[in-house]
Order: sequence, then C-alpha cells, then structure tokens
Amino acid sequence: MAEPVLRLQRLTKYYGVVRAVENLTLEVYEGECFGFLGPNGAGKTTTIGMILGLLWPTAGQVQVLGQRVTPTHTVALRQVGALVGTPGFYPYLSGRENLRLLARLYPEVDDARVDQVLEQVGLAEVGHRKVKGYSTGMKQRLGLAAALLHRPRLLVLDEPTNGLDPVGMAEVRDLLRRLVGQGVTVFLSSHLLHEVEQVCDRVAILHRGRIVAQGPVADLLVGRRDLEEAFMAVVQSSQTF
Ligand SMILES: Nc1ncnc2c1ncn2[C@@H]1O[C@H](COP(=O)(O)OP(=O)(O)OP(=O)(O)O)[C@@H](O)[C@H]1O
Ligand SMILES: [Mg+2]
Repeated sequence: MAEPVLRLQRLTKYYGVVRAVENLTLEVYEGECFGFLGPNGAGKTTTIGMILGLLWPTAGQVQVLGQRVTPTHTVALRQVGALVGTPGFYPYLSGRENLRLLARLYPEVDDARVDQVLEQVGLAEVGHRKVKGYSTGMKQRLGLAAALLHRPRLLVLDEPTNGLDPVGMAEVRDLLRRLVGQGVTVFLSSHLLHEVEQVCDRVAILHRGRIVAQGPVADLLVGRRDLEEAFMAVVQSSQTF
C-alpha cells in the first residue's frame, strides 16, 4: 500500500494530569476523506494542534508524507492546508486582495492561482467585494480558498461549519464534497454526522481521548439507521472506558 499522507502513532497528550488524547493511532491515505468525530472535549482539536505542529505530544508521533512533524520540525507542513476556527481576514480588502496578500508567502502561488481557488470555492463572482460584506459562510469558504492556495496534499479542517447557519453549512458541505471529488485528501473534524456520512470514506470516533471505533463509514452503518445512531451507540457503550 502507498505511504499514508497522514500517520498518527500512539499519539498522546496530557495537559498536566488531564488526559486529552491517548494512544491515538490512525492513517489517512491519498484521496481519502477521513472524518474525525467525538463529543465535546473528546480531544479532536488537541489532536489537530499536534498534527499542525502547534502542540508538543506527551508521547507518540505525527508523520505527514513520511516526515515527522513537531513544533520545531514543520517542513512537512508545507504540504498541508488547514482551517481551524474562524479565519481572520482584512475586512476592508476584497476576498481576492486578501488571498493575494497571503499568496506572497508562497513563491509558486501567482495571481492566476488566486483566481483559480476563488473559482474552486465558488467565490469568483464576489472576489472583488470587500470581505466585510461577506456572509459567515462566504468567509469560511474564503478560509478554505486560503488553505488551498499552495496546492496542499492534505487539508486539515477543524469543524469548518461551526457557527454557520443552515445555508452556510450547506455551502461548505457542497464545497467539501466537490474538493473530495477532485481528489483532495481531507482530515475533517466535525460534529455534523449527517455531513460526515455524506462526505467521508472512513471515520474514527474519539471519546475521552481514545479511539472507540474506526473504519469505513459503510461498516459503521451496518444495522444502523444512520451515522448518528452508530455514533450514539459507540459513545454510550464506551462510557465506562
Ligand atoms: N490548553 C488546555 N489546557 C488544559 N486542558 C485542555 C486544554 N485544551 C484542551 N483541554 C482539555 O483537553 C480535553 C480535549 O479537549 P479538545 O479541545 O481537544 O476537545 P475537542 O474534541 O476539540 O472538543 P470540542 O468538540 O468541544 O471542540 C478536554 O478535556 C479539554 O478540557
Ligand atoms: Mg474542538
């Protein structure tokens, strides 16, 4: 099998005595959309922090395309695009101008690429408008455009639809589906099980820092009405962990 794009090996993080993540092992392969699920406080954002080299693991390791990532060794992160929380943009600049500013960080990203990602996220028509006039969903899509600018091999998203109204959620969900259809590898943390069910190939369910289920969405759905029912069953049966 090809080398995974992302590999977490026995990844563990304690904040003092608080266990946030323990012994987390998983692999994500090229072209896959991997859903990372879990109730509040399960350890999703902590894991993503370690993937992005923002936090030191207490034990275990993160590898992106075979290279280890730590806060002092982030070379592999050049291949990663991320959207964590609500992205900050200059409100009085247009979407296109904001992206052009960011593009200066990457020598290989030119104005044509900026227009291409605007197109990709469905903002080509409004790229000339000031960001202050964008809806939250549009800002989130602009955040995804920024994450895509440098053609990352892996997109890491921490609840990209958090705080969006149903219209914004649908916008981002459709975009994610399109990106996955284009072959972008995605690691997606989300509470929206319906969305994950539609977009992801495989999922891991995290509970109190530990993986309590992992596998293809289709396998988790066997004998269940939907992913929500499967999720509730898995989380409830692991309460005693
Ligand atoms: N900086 C911190 N210091 C101490 N404890 C922390 C810190 N950040 C997170 N925690 C704790 O670690 C655990 C995992 O938190 P984390 O934010 O990773 O969960 P999450 O799955 O992202 O939750 P949510 O769905 O609410 O975003 C929780 O018990 C949380 O209280
Ligand atoms: Mg979180």
